[in-house]
Amino acid sequence: MSERVYIFDTTLRDGEQSPGCSMDFTEKLEMARQLERLRVDILEAGFPIASQGDFEAVKAIASEIRTPIVAALARANQLDIDRAWEAIRDAERPRIHTFLSTSDIHLKYKLHKTREEILKQISWAVGHAKSCCADVEFSPEDAGRTDRDYLIECCHAAVEAGATVLNLPDTVGYCLEPEYERLFADVKSRLPGMDKVILSTHSHDDLGLAVANTLAGIRGGARQVECAINGIGERAGNAALEEVVMALYVREDALGVHTEICREELFASSRLLTRLTGVAVQRNKAIVGLNAFSHEAGIHQDGVLKNAITYEIITPQTVGLPSNQIVLGKHSGRHALAKRFEELGYQLAKPELERAYQLFTQLADRKKNIYDEDLVAIVREGFQHLPEMYSLKLLQSVTSTEGRSTATLELEKDGSVFHDSATAEGPCDAAFRALDRITGLPGVISDFSVHTVGPGNDGVAEVSIRARFQGCEFTGKSTSHSVVEAATRAYLQAANKAAYEARRREEQGAALASRSVHEKEAVDRLLPGGY
Ligand code: KIV
Ligand code: ZN
Repeated sequence: MSERVYIFDTTLRDGEQSPGCSMDFTEKLEMARQLERLRVDILEAGFPIASQGDFEAVKAIASEIRTPIVAALARANQLDIDRAWEAIRDAERPRIHTFLSTSDIHLKYKLHKTREEILKQISWAVGHAKSCCADVEFSPEDAGRTDRDYLIECCHAAVEAGATVLNLPDTVGYCLEPEYERLFADVKSRLPGMDKVILSTHSHDDLGLAVANTLAGIRGGARQVECAINGIGERAGNAALEEVVMALYVREDALGVHTEICREELFASSRLLTRLTGVAVQRNKAIVGLNAFSHEAGIHQDGVLKNAITYEIITPQTVGLPSNQIVLGKHSGRHALAKRFEELGYQLAKPELERAYQLFTQLADRKKNIYDEDLVAIVREGFQHLPEMYSLKLLQSVTSTEGRSTATLELEKDGSVFHDSATAEGPCDAAFRALDRITGLPGVISDFSVHTVGPGNDGVAEVSIRARFQGCEFTGKSTSHSVVEAATRAYLQAANKAAYEARRREEQGAALASRSVHEKEAVDRLLPGGY
């Protein structure tokens, strides 16, 4: 049996902190549950000191997620480490991941500290983390550009203080493969006590080398790899988890290592992240892109029909890609639906199945062919537990090539129905304006993305929206056969969150009115800035 490489997923930390990829509390939990299904070994849940919202999400993940190690990031200081520990102390297997820059560039321009001071800080911080938690990982930030002898001194200090995992990040994505491989080989051969330590890779994709460098790190001796679903992360991103996992699987013969990831969950993980963040992967993205398994050229199609091995090194089923066959139609019943969901990996409880069935029949009325992707979209869409103050009763949209569009909306709130109309340049904008008039909460769209789920002209539109209401940003997502309806529902979801938050703040404000100004300021600081 080949040696095992541990998969450290940083989708919810390095990934989530990148622009456009932020998730709210519920979304982070949903993603964490999927990462557990994917069987990642270590799940980095966030950076608890960064905000109250991050702290709460990490805490909730640590209490719920049982199988993977749950890690929290902390800079090498007491406040950060204590906050990280507070967030993960309920985890089945908690890990504190602390880091400090070690390259001369960072010491001189960012930290204004000497090498001696950094060494002392590493010893102290790792020691303090160790006094809270048995499992401590240390990262010398910018290891890729750190003087080798000094890096080994820093690693030595961390191991002496109790670190059992040493991550050697190429923070700025600068290293070439042979250099990154050498880095690991050097540390492995020169660091005393290496038998008790796992070395870890952490590559960034600034030169498009993150996955290649991750594999180089493994060749050099790393047995943990840090990566993120769809390769999201700071700037150009981290190494894409699905690419690393599949490279290790397909080329185990050459690399001599394996992972214990549930590969059939790769596609679902990628799709879920796209839905939660609204950031889609490009069609030709390896492993999870829409084109990854399509064959266009006649010669290729001919070969694949004769035997898929001619042009396919991975079958779509290996990564859990739905088969694309027509599976269900409008006459299918709950039983068939439940069975198909089971095959797709969803064990639905009775009320969930009922909800899925309603959505399914609505869709089947409008759409002849229901594909597996449609079912995945239904189940993901239908089970979001969002506060819904307003629900959509009716949407009428009139659009013309000649001029402006008009939308009429009916929304229900607490048993009463409200309706209004608006006119704007496009049909979606008209629907948003009509909705604003009813809720009294005008929103400004900051991000709008739409893509189709399912093949051909029969696909379902999936719309993700980010909008600002009263200075705070909220997100919404929805799927429908009609783009205007999906966009309206997504916008309504964001508006519902805004209305819910406005009410929460109002209630909080009333409760605080009787308290001192000092106390109020303290609580305000703890209120999250938005979703
Ligand atoms: O890129 C980096 O150096 C990091 C560290 C915090 C590990 O993300
Ligand atoms: Zn990073």
